[in-house]
Amino acid sequence: MDVFTAIRGRRSCRNFLPEPVSQDTIEKILEAAIWAPSPLNTQPWEFIVITNEEVKKKIFSEAERCRKWAIEKSGWKWLGSYQVDFVQSAPVIIVVIGDPKKTGVDMFQEEGGVGYQHACAAAIQNIHLAAHALGLSSIWFTFFDKKPMREILGIDPAKTPLALVCLGKADGDISRTPRKDVKEKTTYLR
Ligand SMILES: Cc1cc2nc3c(=O)[nH]c(=O)nc-3n(C[C@H](O)[C@H](O)[C@H](O)COP(=O)(O)O)c2cc1C
Repeated sequence: MDVFTAIRGRRSCRNFLPEPVSQDTIEKILEAAIWAPSPLNTQPWEFIVITNEEVKKKIFSEAERCRKWAIEKSGWKWLGSYQVDFVQSAPVIIVVIGDPKKTGVDMFQEEGGVGYQHACAAAIQNIHLAAHALGLSSIWFTFFDKKPMREILGIDPAKTPLALVCLGKADGDISRTPRKDVKEKTTYLR
C-alpha cells in the first residue's frame, strides 16, 4: 500500500471484532512507530502492549469515570452517547508514553518542553498507518486522566502516558469523517 493510500484510507474505529492480533503484526507496527522523527533523535517514547482482559477492564472503568465526569462538568448532553467501550473490546491496546526529559532544545524556550509530545504524536500516527497497511483498524484515545492511568499501568510518575492506541479488525464499516478544503487551511507567502 502506498503512503498516500494509507493516509487517505485510515479512519478511527470504535467497534472491534474479538479476533486476536498476532505477535508478528504487533512487532511490525511497533517497528514503524520507532522510525518517527524526534528532537535530537531523543526517541522519547516507550510502549506498553496490553492484551490482558483484567487490565483492559481497569482502563475501561477509568475511561467511564472520566466520561461521566466530563458530561457533568461540560453539560454537553451529546457526550452521553459518546462511548468508550472500545478500550475493552479492542484486542490490543498500545500505550504510548513520553519522557518529558527527552524533549530536546525546546526545553530552554519560553513555550517549549513539548518536543517529546510532537515526537510521540508522530510515532502514534506511524502506528495508525502501519496498522491500516496491515489490514487493521485503530483509534487514538486520550480521554483519560494521567495519574490513574500511571497507577493502573505502573508507569514512572516522571513519564507521561500520552495516548492509548486501540487496535484490531473493524467490526463493520467505518463512516468517513469529512475534511475542510486544504485551501481554507493554507496561506502561501510567495
Ligand atoms: C490527539 C487526538 C486525540 C483523540 N482522542 C480521542 C478520544 O479520546 N476518543 C475518541 O473517540 N477519538 C479520539 N480521537 C479520534 C478523533 O475523534 C478522530 O481522529 C477525528 O474525529 C477524525 O476522524 P478520523 O480519524 O476517522 O479521520 C483523537 C484524535 C487525536 C488526533
